[in-house]
Formats: sequence, structure tokens, C-alpha cells
Amino acid sequence: MTLDPNELSSGDLYGYLSTAVAPRPIAFAATVDADGRVNLSPFSYFNVFSTRPPMLVFSPIRRGRDGSAKDTLHNVQQVPEVTINVVNYAMVEQMSLTSTEYATGINEFAKGGFTEVASKAVRPPRVGEAPVSFECRVTEVIALGEGGGAGNLVLCEVVRIHIQDELLDEDQKLITRKLDLVARMGGNDYCRITPETLFEIPKPLRTCGLGVDQLPAHIRNSAVLTGNNLGRLANQEQLPDAETVERVRSLADVQRARRRGTVHLHELAQRYLGEGRVMEALAMLV
Ligand SMILES: Cc1cc2nc3c(=O)[nH]c(=O)nc-3n(C[C@H](O)[C@H](O)[C@H](O)COP(=O)(O)O)c2cc1C
Repeated sequence: MTLDPNELSSGDLYGYLSTAVAPRPIAFAATVDADGRVNLSPFSYFNVFSTRPPMLVFSPIRRGRDGSAKDTLHNVQQVPEVTINVVNYAMVEQMSLTSTEYATGINEFAKGGFTEVASKAVRPPRVGEAPVSFECRVTEVIALGEGGGAGNLVLCEVVRIHIQDELLDEDQKLITRKLDLVARMGGNDYCRITPETLFEIPKPLRTCGLGVDQLPAHIRNSAVLTGNNLGRLANQEQLPDAETVERVRSLADVQRARRRGTVHLHELAQRYLGEGRVMEALAMLV
């Protein structure tokens, strides 16, 4: 199916965009209006876009029914400061509750049962329960349109970062496996990042991988090896040297697989890949 956004209803368009562009992290944004009244709302049109300057961007969109702006947008236009609080699993139900359209001036910290902690450098408080909070100055608000559904990019420069101590290792680095982050999917779906759902891929940044196009055709066209297998093999900087090939070929399981045929050999290479023995997998295949 191929779609033209102009031929879709706003509801359908939102559905395709927000289901396909996922998971999205959640900015739990606290702002204040000119009278100092506090607001707290979640936004999953959100991400980090620059390291130095440290910039986060989130987007309160205009309401579909009447094109009106949300309190958060009004607030950052009056007082260009915000705290962006990261959401973990322990907070997710209360966070969802705060997305209710309470009347202007209602403090969603109270509605959601969250703790207001005074910020160091900005007026809006931060969420005491959040694993990580960013105090930010709003440097610019960019309207992407005027009608219902139009986003407003709120560009936020991070001026302070607060991290719960128990989430740090001995080098003061954040531990992903302890954060228990949640993210927004399409519809009512969320996902939760646990040690079981995480996996690692060695970074190709410092090396220059061969590329899939440099793998011999019988590997590239294998009926057994998957795209992920080829990606991992082709992340090697070079094909194995003759000595490695000879050593690997002399291994008993490799000899057995070679005798039984290509499918068995490729299945064995796949097993080696699963064990992180990438060069040996490549050596038995070339
Ligand atoms: C997890 C989650 C993510 C959301 N993401 C957005 C978003 O990116 N943009 C948006 O305009 N509304 C988003 N909403 C809805 C707003 O939170 C909701 O409209 C809220 O009432 C706005 O509050 P305010 O008028 O106090 O600013 C989201 C709601 C939830 C629960």
C-alpha cells in the first residue's frame, strides 16, 4: 500500500505516523505561566537533537477538534523555561493520568500524585520521581502550521541535569539496565525497556566494515543466513587470512558441517555468530 497524506483523514494520518515512528521517548514537561501556575504534561513527539549545545525538542500539537493550543505551549511562550523529566515504568500510569485535559491553571503534579522539587536554574519545578530530569531554557518555538494537528517545535537548551544516584555506576555513568524506561507506541501501546529486551551491536564507528557487497556471492545469497547475519559478517574489516581459514576448517564441527553440505555449514556459521565468534564464522564460509 502506498499513501498520499493529503488523501487521509487527520486521525488516520496520526495513526500511521505515530504507530510507525516508534518507540518514542516521553518528555514529561513541567512549565509555568506568567502568574507562576505550574503545568505538567507528557509529550512523545520528543527527542535529543544536539549534544553541544545540549538541545532537546518536543512538540505540543494544536488540538485536532478546534486548532487550539495546549497550556504547555502558552506557558513556554510566556515563560521560556521547562523541566523535561524522563519517564520510567514505575511512573507510567500516573504520567498517563496527567495527559487528561484538566482546566488551565490546574497543577497536574497534584492530579498525578507527583512530587514537585524546586529547580536550580529555572522556574518550573522538576518531577521528584523521575530517574533523570533536565532543567532547560527554551531558545525558540517554531510553529509548523496554524490548523489542528500542527506541531510546535519547542527548542530546549539543557542547563542542569539531575540523575538519581542509584542509576549510576562507579564511573558516574548512567546504567541503561537500571533505568527501566518506557516509550510510546501507536494507539494505547507502550513498551518497557528491560534487560531482556536489550541487545548489543558492536559500533562500526572506529572500524571500516567490508560491506555486504564485498562478501562472496554464495554468502550473500545464502538461504540460511539472515540480513542481520550478513550485517554482522560484513562489519569485519577484512576477510580472514589463510592461517585463520585453515585453523577454523580443521575444527571438528566445521569439518562435519562441510561434509553434510552448504545448509549445515551456514547453520553452523549462524551459531558461531550467535556466540560472537564472527571472524571464525566468516572463516568457515569463505
Ligand atoms: C505518553 C503521551 C504522549 C503524548 N505526546 C503528545 C505530543 O507529543 N504532543 C501533544 O501535543 N500531545 C501529546 N500528548 C497529549 C498531551 O499530553 C495532552 O494533550 C495534555 O493534556 C496536554 O496538556 P496541556 O494542555 O496542559 O499542555 C501525549 C499524551 C501521552 C499520554
